[in-house]
Amino acid sequence: MNTESSAASCMALSTAAGSGGTGQVGDGILSLVELMSDALLLFDGHGTVMYSNRAAKVLAQVLSPQDGDVRRATLSDWHPHLIPEYALDICRDRGSWSGEVELGAPNRPARALLVRIQALGGADAESYGMWVRDVTVEHSRELELNQRNSELEVALAKLGSVQEAVLKSEKLASIGQLAAGVAHEINNPIAYVKSNLNSLQHSTLQLLSEVRARLQGSPTDQEDDIDIDETATEIKELIAESCEGVDRVIKIVRDLKDFSHVDLIENWVLADIHAGLESTLNIIWNELKYKAHIVKTFGELPLIECLPSELNQVFMNILMNAAQALESYGVVTVTTERSNDNVRISIGDDGKGIPEDLLPRIFDPFFTTKTVGEGTGLGLAISYGIVAKHHGTIEVTSVPGQGTLFLIELPIQQPRSPDRKS
Ligand SMILES: Nc1ncnc2c1ncn2[C@@H]1O[C@H](COP(=O)(O)OP(=O)(O)OP(=O)(O)O)[C@@H](O)[C@H]1O
Ligand SMILES: [Mg+2]
Repeated sequence: MNTESSAASCMALSTAAGSGGTGQVGDGILSLVELMSDALLLFDGHGTVMYSNRAAKVLAQVLSPQDGDVRRATLSDWHPHLIPEYALDICRDRGSWSGEVELGAPNRPARALLVRIQALGGADAESYGMWVRDVTVEHSRELELNQRNSELEVALAKLGSVQEAVLKSEKLASIGQLAAGVAHEINNPIAYVKSNLNSLQHSTLQLLSEVRARLQGSPTDQEDDIDIDETATEIKELIAESCEGVDRVIKIVRDLKDFSHVDLIENWVLADIHAGLESTLNIIWNELKYKAHIVKTFGELPLIECLPSELNQVFMNILMNAAQALESYGVVTVTTERSNDNVRISIGDDGKGIPEDLLPRIFDPFFTTKTVGEGTGLGLAISYGIVAKHHGTIEVTSVPGQGTLFLIELPIQQPRSPDRKS
């Protein structure tokens, strides 16, 4: 039974007891009322108290302590503001009033009381029953709880910005780690372009002196005698190889630019998922080439509405995980297909797989099975967030010892909603 209804019942019982409910039942009711922990009072229209139970007397002592057993004849002897002035008017009008009353007193802590007044009627004069419950403790607990809640909200907001900062720094760290790989990728072609230029310089000078000697009609030294056709072919090859090297550098730089293009404002555009996958594969080629054979099976895909640089980060995280899961030279598959209004991108590897008990945890921030320095455990957490932002899903299936497959499904068009700038 809730407090209000129990109070109402008690009042009804008191009324019964007070209006002739004599005998065993009446006495029983009165003893019960005396034992209640809530204060009960009966008073008339002038506020003259006709009956108060034991709890009411205790409450009176708490509200306005008095020496000895001073009789409290009226409600204001309990406390001048025990009930608001309008409460009785409402009671006369509607039959009852209830509310919360806060009573302050100098040098005493304020008390919070739940008060309900019920008009009981009467032949000659108005009479009322009043039920009072001291909820000071609950009240202060509620206040404390509210304060804790606001503190928690502040802490949560702070945590949110810390998490954002951590994610940003992780993004920077992984881009930094990639930069080392990319530098290596650029170094290779640059090194052979440089060595080709040295050979070119040597061959060209040789060729020039041969041509000069022949033009002047002076016989050249037998040892230095060169075959002009052979040297010309060599020069052509050196130049072609160097051009290829320079093209490779241009491509890497272009991919890096595409890949690391971080929009300060979220820039939703129509983008080609295949271009994103290709540029990501190029960027992390240094990490993959000695570890895996890449099998690409690209289907027909439309352009999709997305944040391309963020999706590239998802592809990078999953591809890097695949490479790191391979214990020996293996296969990494990248497959795409359209499925109704979505596109599906699956990235698989035949690496060590994920134990069943760890599968539910891999998207948790900071969950990693890698050594310190090798993994921070944020790659998949970031990826999950990015895919969710795209209203997509990311799922994983894995068989320990056989491999892992990540399946990302993204809508071709983003749902229109007020929370998205389009
Ligand atoms: N393809 C995979 N094969 C096996 N285990 C994987 C694979 N992908 C993820 N995991 C497991 O999931 C964990 C979490 O991956 P996640 O990418 O979030 O973090 P990480 O790779 O450990 O570190 P980070 O990506 O921050 O450098 C990994 O430590 C690994 O145990
Ligand atoms: Mg990772």
